[in-house]
Amino acid sequence: MNWNLKGKHALISGGTRGIGLAIAEEFLQLGAAIIVIARDEKYLAKKIKLWKDKNFPVDGIAADVSTTSDRERVFEILKQKGIQLDILINNAGTNIRKKVKEYSDQEYDHIFNTNLHSTFDMCRRAYPLLQQSKSASIVNISSVAGLTHMRTGAPYGMTKAAIVQLTRNLAVEWAPDGIRVNCIAPWYIHTPLVEKLFENQSYLREVLDRTPMGRIGEAQEVAAAVAFFCMPGASFITGQCLAVDGGFMVKGF
Ligand SMILES: NC(=O)c1ccc[n+]([C@@H]2O[C@H](COP(=O)([O-])OP(=O)(O)OC[C@H]3O[C@@H](n4cnc5c(N)ncnc54)[C@H](OP(=O)(O)O)[C@@H]3O)[C@@H](O)[C@H]2O)c1
Repeated sequence: MNWNLKGKHALISGGTRGIGLAIAEEFLQLGAAIIVIARDEKYLAKKIKLWKDKNFPVDGIAADVSTTSDRERVFEILKQKGIQLDILINNAGTNIRKKVKEYSDQEYDHIFNTNLHSTFDMCRRAYPLLQQSKSASIVNISSVAGLTHMRTGAPYGMTKAAIVQLTRNLAVEWAPDGIRVNCIAPWYIHTPLVEKLFENQSYLREVLDRTPMGRIGEAQEVAAAVAFFCMPGASFITGQCLAVDGGFMVKGF
């Protein structure tokens, strides 16, 4: 009873690849119905078909969550289809790695729109639906780059740090509405977003040396933590940020 997502309806941004895909599949295994958002319409349709062929309750909406108009359209579609919502996962995110002085205004805006403004706006647009759920849950995907300095570039770290604080604020604001809000801060996880970085063997070695568990994480390991936050078993947990990082954050000298 405590350890499943049976009967829950979850909206997952970026659910076709990497961490979002692992979350989508974990949720399906745990009994949830999911609605997946991604930009690449063809690839999304392919994933939806694969899941539907296995009789999983899935739906897809091709949309770019970095734009206000698409976010508006997502919730218009949910309204038209009469879809209820118990869970929102703000996972879609991006990065451009540079030194502070090298960012163009467009690059800076792109990172903020994709990672932060989308998360803020998706939460408030989902609020009326989540409020109607008996036990609602939001999980935002931050990063260890939002908790400490990393070589990811400042804008990415800034957006991820702000997501941690947004999580705390919403957790307190929406606790009386029965909406729990938590976030996850992964360290390096094998996904298309970061795979290219590991082609640089010396960088990979540095990453592994700095990780107590001595390996890169798997998307399924993030998905398991996300699922836990949404389960009845986590019913008294809100406002938390859990690092899924193989010990990275607690390693000092
Ligand atoms: N991988 C890591 O090491 C790591 C570490 C810490 C935090 N994170 C965070 O975890 C989250 C997922 O990362 P990932 O590595 O799984 O990324 P990924 O492999 O690049 O996958 C991103 C997913 O999001 C979708 N997406 C991207 N931008 C979108 C947009 N504007 N609107 C709608 N969908 C969008 C992509 O599909 P389309 O391209 O079709 O839109 C894809 O399904 C991000 O927030 C990232 O910052 C990742």
